[in-house]
Amino acid sequence: MNQQRGFPEWEKLYQEKEVETMPWFNPDLDADLEKALTKLNLHTGTAWDLGTGPGTQAMALAERGFQVTATDLSDTAIQKAQGIATEKKLNISWKQDDILNSNLDQKFNLVFDRGCFHVLPPERRQDYVRVVANLIQPGGYLFLKCFSHLQPAEQGPYRFKPEQIQEIFGNKFNVRSVEETVYQGPSDSLPKALFCVMEKS
Ligand SMILES: C[S@@+](CC[C@H](N)C(=O)[O-])C[C@H]1O[C@@H](n2cnc3c(N)ncnc32)[C@H](O)[C@@H]1O
Repeated sequence: MNQQRGFPEWEKLYQEKEVETMPWFNPDLDADLEKALTKLNLHTGTAWDLGTGPGTQAMALAERGFQVTATDLSDTAIQKAQGIATEKKLNISWKQDDILNSNLDQKFNLVFDRGCFHVLPPERRQDYVRVVANLIQPGGYLFLKCFSHLQPAEQGPYRFKPEQIQEIFGNKFNVRSVEETVYQGPSDSLPKALFCVMEKS
């Protein structure tokens, strides 16, 4: 289950393909994030879209009034998303940044990771937790969407069970909820996902 997996060369992928063709492309705000924001009454503040890729989530958060920073390992992804955001007249801070060697130094009210954590090498997960926890205000939130153990087959992103989320994040976060859901997107069979709400302790 936790053997090293192969992932795309992200920069090459974004250079060669249109973002709309990517299986994670979702032009709308992620439905699970939208529900969580409503439930927690979160409407303003600083938001970080970590591993933003096509940038759709960053743009949707900015349209809702958040002050958004969006980062990705791929500079091309950032350039493409920035171009679209500029056309839409959205004010977002776009930065190329590797979460495993991050140069960010701001503290955010909320962070959304929709598909980055689950592609990182298992041995770097605690580095991720440490870096992300350091970049969230006390009482701020990490919203994490990752593949669920219910998603069949082995290829692609690592899968997680709810108890693993508690094990991995419990030392820095109060894991408020972990729900079984799907990745809404263009595919006919939507990948099974976990949506996790974690409060920085
Ligand atoms: C499955 S895609 C999801 C993109 C976007 N969050 C979305 O939902 O449309 C995963 C993203 O994580 C980015 N990524 C992979 N490793 C990363 C790292 N070490 N630091 C930052 N971003 C990374 C990839 O470039 C890719 O855009």
